[in-house]
Amino acid sequence: MYAQMVKTARVGVKPRDEMTEQERAFQDRVDANEKIEPKDWMPDDYRRTLIRQIGQHAHSEVVGQLPEGNWITRAPTLERKAILLAKVQDEAGRGLYLYSAAETLGVSRDELIELLHQGRMKYSSIFNYPTLTWADVGAIGWLVDGAAIMNQVHLQRTSYGPYARAMVRICKEESFHQRQGYDIMMKMAFGTPEQKAMAQDALNRFWYPSLMMFGPPDQDSVHTAQSMAWKIKVATNDELRQKFVDQTVPQIEYLGLTCPDPDIRLNEETGHYDFTPPDWSEFFAVLKGNGPCNKDRMKARITAWEDGAWVREGMLAHARKKAAATAAAE
Ligand SMILES: [Fe+2]
Ligand SMILES: [Fe+2]
Repeated sequence: MYAQMVKTARVGVKPRDEMTEQERAFQDRVDANEKIEPKDWMPDDYRRTLIRQIGQHAHSEVVGQLPEGNWITRAPTLERKAILLAKVQDEAGRGLYLYSAAETLGVSRDELIELLHQGRMKYSSIFNYPTLTWADVGAIGWLVDGAAIMNQVHLQRTSYGPYARAMVRICKEESFHQRQGYDIMMKMAFGTPEQKAMAQDALNRFWYPSLMMFGPPDQDSVHTAQSMAWKIKVATNDELRQKFVDQTVPQIEYLGLTCPDPDIRLNEETGHYDFTPPDWSEFFAVLKGNGPCNKDRMKARITAWEDGAWVREGMLAHARKKAAATAAAE
């Protein structure tokens, strides 16, 4: 059912005088910061938007394991390997409870996974970039997980109860992820000249893709206005991007590295950093499937899904047997 719903989502905020009584009562609850729960009435578009957002988030966690998973076997020390394993497992765990959160809205996990595999649902474009060196693992933890926290801290206040609650735990894990990334960057940036060069190179490649993680500029973001009115989103793409830049530039300076944006500077009037926006044509190209790793990522996911079929079948057979035994005993 969700597949048919995707195409029909409306754009723009419905004016209050066009709302039905039910819609008005719903909006009042949202405005009063009440959480909306699975069994509560909700507008179809609210449900659709949440399924899209939570589904994409779940897919991003699952696909997001791949770039770092690439380095588990090559982590430089046993300690680094244990830390990275724990982090990648966190991402897998979140995928599972975010799929569960999406299921409370009436879509099945199988359906979401099918849409992902058919290319009809997205995951975060950042995971379509390769991890070429160990420093990339540091840059991902620092910048990519850092950008994710920026988003997710706000989502703890999102209007849909199950999603907001999932974020509380996710944010705790995410700050560990970010610190492990920054710790790797510190080791590299304060290490040998070769290590420092690797750290700089990783920053150069991940800087703009990280800025893209907040989504297109507000003026081009089709979902923002209604999502804000429903408190599905509580801060805009541009606000979050600015916050991320303001937080990250001093961290770059502390590392003794150089921001790849030559025009970055603190604006004394605004108190914020002015920066060059990313190349949005690259963002849309990657989103369309033409990033460096899109095909590899999808192939890895589909293969994992197919290779796991026997586990799912075995578990279903076991559940059927158990249900039959329970029924016979009654
Ligand atoms: Fe994640
Ligand atoms: Fe993470």
